Amino acid sequence: MLELHDIQSGVLRPRPTPYVATYIAFRIDDRKAGRELIRRIAGVVTSADKPTSPLADTWVSVALTYQGFKALGVPQESLDSFSWEFRQGMSARAHDLGDTAQSAPENWEKPLGSGEIHVILVAVSPDEEHLEAALDRAREAYSEMTGIEAIWRQNCHALPSETEPFGFKDGISHPAIEGSGIPGTNSKEQPLKAGEFVLGYPDEMGGTQKTVPEVLGRNGTYVVFRKLHQRVADFRRYIKENSNGLEDEELTAAKMMGRWRSGAPLALCPVHDDPALGADPKRNNDFLFQEDDPVGLKTPGGSHIRRCNPRDAKIAGVARIHKMIRRGTAYGPLLPEGVLDDDGEDRGLIFAFVGAHLGRQFEFVQSQWVNDGVFFGSGTDKDPIIGSNGETGGFTLPRKPVRKRFQVIPNFVVTRGGEYCFMPSLSALKWLSEFDT
Ligand code: HEM
Repeated sequence: MLELHDIQSGVLRPRPTPYVATYIAFRIDDRKAGRELIRRIAGVVTSADKPTSPLADTWVSVALTYQGFKALGVPQESLDSFSWEFRQGMSARAHDLGDTAQSAPENWEKPLGSGEIHVILVAVSPDEEHLEAALDRAREAYSEMTGIEAIWRQNCHALPSETEPFGFKDGISHPAIEGSGIPGTNSKEQPLKAGEFVLGYPDEMGGTQKTVPEVLGRNGTYVVFRKLHQRVADFRRYIKENSNGLEDEELTAAKMMGRWRSGAPLALCPVHDDPALGADPKRNNDFLFQEDDPVGLKTPGGSHIRRCNPRDAKIAGVARIHKMIRRGTAYGPLLPEGVLDDDGEDRGLIFAFVGAHLGRQFEFVQSQWVNDGVFFGSGTDKDPIIGSNGETGGFTLPRKPVRKRFQVIPNFVVTRGGEYCFMPSLSALKWLSEFDT
């Protein structure tokens, strides 16, 4: 069984929607103050076994970057026991992640990727009023401290419809995890070993990740935050210009995603949308690909969901070792229905990955499945929704008698920045606030 009482609640449990959330990033200029900040935050972090939060309706999670551990004075031996990708940081990994051109770190929103972000606090509440009341109390806790600076804040939200800015229902597919007591969303998939998502437990490859000292890593996990700007007007125009009429537009959009906007999967309703199916958590993720749709006549191999989780489809490699927990939260105002011109507003997704293997989970999916097509026999095609496409990207729609080919897909998503973090257990937070060097 997972030690749920020691794991931060944000790791395993998605919050019920609707909600508002905020990310606050801190820089630590003084290690003693940094440890005191961790001690104070630890007092309001909820563990995964608790149905209630110490801050009434507001739920707080906290994560640190590699630079953050260094700023706290964590010994080198301990720093070296974290994964290589984490120690490098996201901006150093930009090339492999496809963060080039407008998505390159030199164009990121400051201070993301600059090395100055040490601690990220995430607070989630049912509404603005609760969130601000909780943050006022938090501000009292850190504002009188010298040696700590809040240097970045990002507000975001999950709508009751759970739609992201392109208009698709998000937050549907989640992996089942052994020993978590939290059911998965696909009855046809075997639960994954806990070590895929939490350090200190056996994983699918038979290994168990440990840090020095063990308490620092056990029951913690890696978290990737990415601020992804979405060019909603460009997406709408592209769909319109490459379809024949309204009905075909919806089908084109669905083929690129692998689901209708309602969330209903093409795998289960390939011809028409079925909003009741999209809204039904018992049915909307209950499918595989291989037996029913080996060549992607229903769900194209190149669609976003089939790329990011090919399930049982025949691909080069083994899909099970590249799974992830996702938390996507929208930011910015919605582009009003029907508008096809950009209004200059910044809108998109704060994408969050949770998993114990940055390299073979997040980085592998982003570089091999999102930004390449070789794994399912589609050359250098990229994900039509989130790939770093630009001039070269294409997308094939398997069809009978002839396939349809979409050429020159623009970049619909631009990376505005991000960080690789580690979300420690509650006992590791205590260790971090108390150790002495
Ligand atoms: C702005 C960027 C993005 C948008 C708009 C987006 C949107 C969506 C939507 C609408 C779904 C289907 C609903 C669901 O299953 O929850 C989905 C699924 C998924 N996305 Fe994304 N996504 C984005 C970025 C990413 C990134 C960066 C990754 C990973 C590198 C990713 C990985 C996944 C995975 C693993 C699934 C579940 C696939 C499945 O199990 O069927 N997404 N995404």
